[in-house]
Amino acid sequence: MSASNLASAAARGFSCFALAASLASVLLFSSPDARAQSQSESSDFNWEFLPDDTLDKGFYQSYLYGVPDNPSDDWVLAYGGRLYDLWWVVLLVDPPAGRHPSYPKAGVAADLETWRCVSCHGWDYRGRDGNFASGPNYTGIKGINGKVGADPKEIERILRAPEHGFTEEMIPDNALSALALFVANGQDDPTAQIDSNTRRVRGRPDEGRRLFQTICAICHDFDGRAYITGEGDGLNTLGAIANSDPWRALHKLSNGQTYADMPALRALGRQSLMDLMAYLQTLPEEPLEP
Ligand code: HEC
Ligand code: HEC
Repeated sequence: MSASNLASAAARGFSCFALAASLASVLLFSSPDARAQSQSESSDFNWEFLPDDTLDKGFYQSYLYGVPDNPSDDWVLAYGGRLYDLWWVVLLVDPPAGRHPSYPKAGVAADLETWRCVSCHGWDYRGRDGNFASGPNYTGIKGINGKVGADPKEIERILRAPEHGFTEEMIPDNALSALALFVANGQDDPTAQIDSNTRRVRGRPDEGRRLFQTICAICHDFDGRAYITGEGDGLNTLGAIANSDPWRALHKLSNGQTYADMPALRALGRQSLMDLMAYLQTLPEEPLEP
């Protein structure tokens, strides 16, 4: 799909986003007062997977839960990418109960995790043909890379069909269209620059160092060990994440982190992201306080 087609697809998908009326109470926090109100209204939301101090840090901001009036393609794709990561956190809705019926019986994921797109399709978008081909994350389910360039409407239908069962109460139509645009136009092809065996990223660490020290260090410190709690899997420095799971690091770099003030950097372009990734792989892997 060309850039202009993408722009018009985004505009179509997001005409309702501009209104955002139906979602305004949860999605579009226009003023600090409205934010505070929504915060209390969603007080029974399950926060257990958020870092304990998230609420104290004032992370309720339009950057995380709002929608720009005039969304750019990059914003739409990054938003879709965050939905792929952890949609109910992005949408501030309660996650479904129980296990996703399509998650394999033998799979080891906790019930909640089985509802994340990434749990079945992988951080490299290749499902059973990629990094999830074996090991604890194996599901035997195919990737979403076969739908690169597909009609987003077709992808929306796939997500509403019984095999997925994502209802409008779970993922509203406008969010679903962002997700579909991400699948169609926002997936990177990490196989080109990340060696699937060694996990080494083919990028220029010296270029990445320039970006890292001037953009990332403000939050993650010069050694990439600050401001990282990870996903509870012991990967809690940027060096560890980039070396163990470069696909996850790349996804979060491109699209941001669903509950944190982490910029979505896809607008930097692929080369810069790969340079950054190559530099992250040189950073220390041991956390400051084990
Ligand atoms: C519990 C597992 C599971 C979850 C969670 C899940 N899917 Fe799927 N997905 C499947 C299965 C199973 C298929 C069908 C695969 C097949 O046809 O072999 C599929 C197929 C797809 C396809 C079509 C792939 C193709 O080439 O035919 C897309 C696109 C897709 N899923 C996107 C998503 C997105 C986006 C999400 C998150 C909102 C998601 N899936 C969540 C299990 C899952
Ligand atoms: C404004 C602060 C901020 C800036 C700037 C920032 N980040 Fe982050 N980043 C965060 C926060 C907060 C998290 C979430 C930490 C967590 O949940 O463990 C995060 C998460 C991440 C993750 C995902 C960690 C995981 O658990 O998978 C990666 C990778 C990352 N950042 C890399 C970078 C890089 C590289 C840059 C610079 C290009 C950068 N960040 C800039 C705040 C920031």
